[in-house]
Amino acid sequence: MKKNTSPAAHDSPVIKFIVGEQIPVELHKVRIVQKLNLKPVNERLRAIQDAGFNSFLLSTQDVFLDMLTDSGTNAMSDQQVASMLVADDAYAGSQSFERLQKAVKEVFGKKYFLPAHQGRAAEHIIFHAFIRQGDVIPMNYHFTTTKAHIELPGGVIEEIFTSEALKIKSSHPFKGNIDIEKLKKLIKKHGVDRIPFVRMEASTNLIGGQPFSIENMRQVRKVCDQHKIMLVLDASLIGENAYFIKQREAAFKKKSIAEILRTMCDLSDLVYFSSRKVSSTRGGGICTNDVHLYDKLKDLVILFEGFLTYGGMSVREIEAMAVGLRETQDETCISQSPQFIKYLVEHLDAAGVPVVTPAGGLGCHIDAKGFLPHVPQTEYPAGALTAAFYIISGVRGMERGTISSVRDVSGKDILADMELLRLAMPRRVFTLSQVKYVADRLQWLHKNRKLIGGLQFEYEPAVLRFFTGRLTPTSDWPQKLMAKFKKDFGNSL
Ligand code: F0G
Repeated sequence: MKKNTSPAAHDSPVIKFIVGEQIPVELHKVRIVQKLNLKPVNERLRAIQDAGFNSFLLSTQDVFLDMLTDSGTNAMSDQQVASMLVADDAYAGSQSFERLQKAVKEVFGKKYFLPAHQGRAAEHIIFHAFIRQGDVIPMNYHFTTTKAHIELPGGVIEEIFTSEALKIKSSHPFKGNIDIEKLKKLIKKHGVDRIPFVRMEASTNLIGGQPFSIENMRQVRKVCDQHKIMLVLDASLIGENAYFIKQREAAFKKKSIAEILRTMCDLSDLVYFSSRKVSSTRGGGICTNDVHLYDKLKDLVILFEGFLTYGGMSVREIEAMAVGLRETQDETCISQSPQFIKYLVEHLDAAGVPVVTPAGGLGCHIDAKGFLPHVPQTEYPAGALTAAFYIISGVRGMERGTISSVRDVSGKDILADMELLRLAMPRRVFTLSQVKYVADRLQWLHKNRKLIGGLQFEYEPAVLRFFTGRLTPTSDWPQKLMAKFKKDFGNSL
């Protein structure tokens, strides 16, 4: 199969405009399309009511631009689709798996690879193997499934981010960094025996897709080495983190993305990932160069996922994953989403819409506390903003705030550090005119923000409540918002 190589392996593939506005240009062409529905505003209001004001419960029939997530929704390349035709169907010893193993070795530099059906399955296996009741896991920031799977065997997360991490407006290039002093203190406080590993998450999801630097990772590694603690990398968004390192860390400006990826993985004992994000196909996995770690995990893969040569995935997904991992080394592929995000973030910022800066990976993150200062955090401003934005645009975002958090033992909400409406930018899916539509509708909503009220739970599941929970508005604000939309937009959708 033909290998995709970028035109200039070490220079960023940006097209310069001399006369017009500098905009990101797509370095791919669209060859298969899917028709979208943009329903009238009254139908959108009905749809979100039927969905319990939870964007996870909307049908894509009712969604115009699906910015819920990039998970499993990045566009596949022609090479990925082609690779699925040569998949080798076998329970054990499939050649498809051998090809994937080779790709993992090439991209992540790890000899041993264990497949899993998605990222949280990899977390389940690692945390089940290494965490005992009362253990403490230091990390730059948690992800929802990470926290749930660490708490399952009785572990506790400890977030040791720097003072920049939670600032909405910042020009700090690496808000995903770990605070080294906090890490040292934590080890002193709990002792090495209580800390099975340190976890670093690439392009830290819940604080706005913010990267860490290699310099920071090297310092973390040094502390880990001093105490013989394992370093685990969540590589689900590693491509974007590598792109930001190349853009923002002087020592890596002239390095290729492939070299930066390898540098990050070489600093880690264990790397795991959701392939749904990193390589535009279903699946996930764990890799390492340490045969003892591999041995400790492999039986759990068989127990929870399936045999070692498929791990809950179809061989077609395995083939597409191998190609997708290699494409992660191609800057023209991985830079498209961050460039579109930057475009949207900078436009919104200039228009006074409160948005997390600098622009990160995964999506554009709107600060719901800044957008809706009149909605108390106990009435879920990020959830309300997500629902309101859907009503006036048909665009589906995701709540990343207190609804995505949990309650304490007394039943009170643990208020999230940040209340964000996340508008994901799946790789090579949207056009720039669609992004401009999002910016336009958000600016209208910001002007009319006083009309938006809060939400309250009507049905609340005990675990990961944001997925299937149902809410109701605290007043008739959705109807009032729709009335204003109709007044301003007339018969337009
Ligand atoms: N780690 C990170 C950093 C993630 O972003 C995700 C998923 C996972 C682990 C779990 O992977 O979904 O394949 O089981 N993030 C998705 C999102 C769900 O929408 O941000 P999974």
